[in-house]
Amino acid sequence: MTRLFSVLLVLVAYLTPCVAMQDTISTDMASPAQITEGEKLFTMYCKACHQLERRLVGPPLQDVRQRRGEEWIVNFVKSATTVIESGDSVANALFEEYNRVLMPDQPLDNEQIKSVLAYLDHSAEAEQAGPPIPRPVDALAQGPDPFRFDDFGFWITYTICVVLLIITMYFLVENFSISHPEEIGD
Ligand code: HEC
Repeated sequence: MTRLFSVLLVLVAYLTPCVAMQDTISTDMASPAQITEGEKLFTMYCKACHQLERRLVGPPLQDVRQRRGEEWIVNFVKSATTVIESGDSVANALFEEYNRVLMPDQPLDNEQIKSVLAYLDHSAEAEQAGPPIPRPVDALAQGPDPFRFDDFGFWITYTICVVLLIITMYFLVENFSISHPEEIGD
């Protein structure tokens, strides 16, 4: 009975972080759906004035995350006027640099702005990796299929879970003292 209990305890102890980890990883990483949503929003609301890499009416946005904090960006996108009027020195310098053109307040909520940022990050990564080589596999990778070979979060979690499962199996075997082959016949 105690043995069974300890086995259960080991199982729970190993599987809990596994499940929890899967959760944090999938919420921390931008999902393909979020990136698509971000691209759509960028095209609708931002593209008239912003390009990814070149200056247009406003600054290029691809690497804006390296320049500014997320909170600053969210506030600025919602209401550039408010940020400028608050006396923020960065916003005021930008305003002067871009010929005192006021960026209009954008009707996006925090989540939508984060999607746009996810799209910008993604476009930067895609560029570093070079232009995509068209392959038949890419067609399979489209859509909501979660089984992606480039989903590192998934593979890390998967590997850890498999290793922990093996350890758990080992514990089970040890605890129930199933005879090892060399002990047969003792
Ligand atoms: C009507 C033109 C216009 C539109 C539309 C527009 N912007 Fe801007 N944006 C600007 C200008 C001009 C600036 C430069 C700052 C200034 O002049 O106030 C700017 C600055 C920014 C900055 C600061 C960049 C930096 O280098 O710190 C961010 C971030 C930004 N815009 C995001 C967005 C996003 C996201 C959207 C779409 C949801 C958007 N903008 C739509 C004109 C625009």
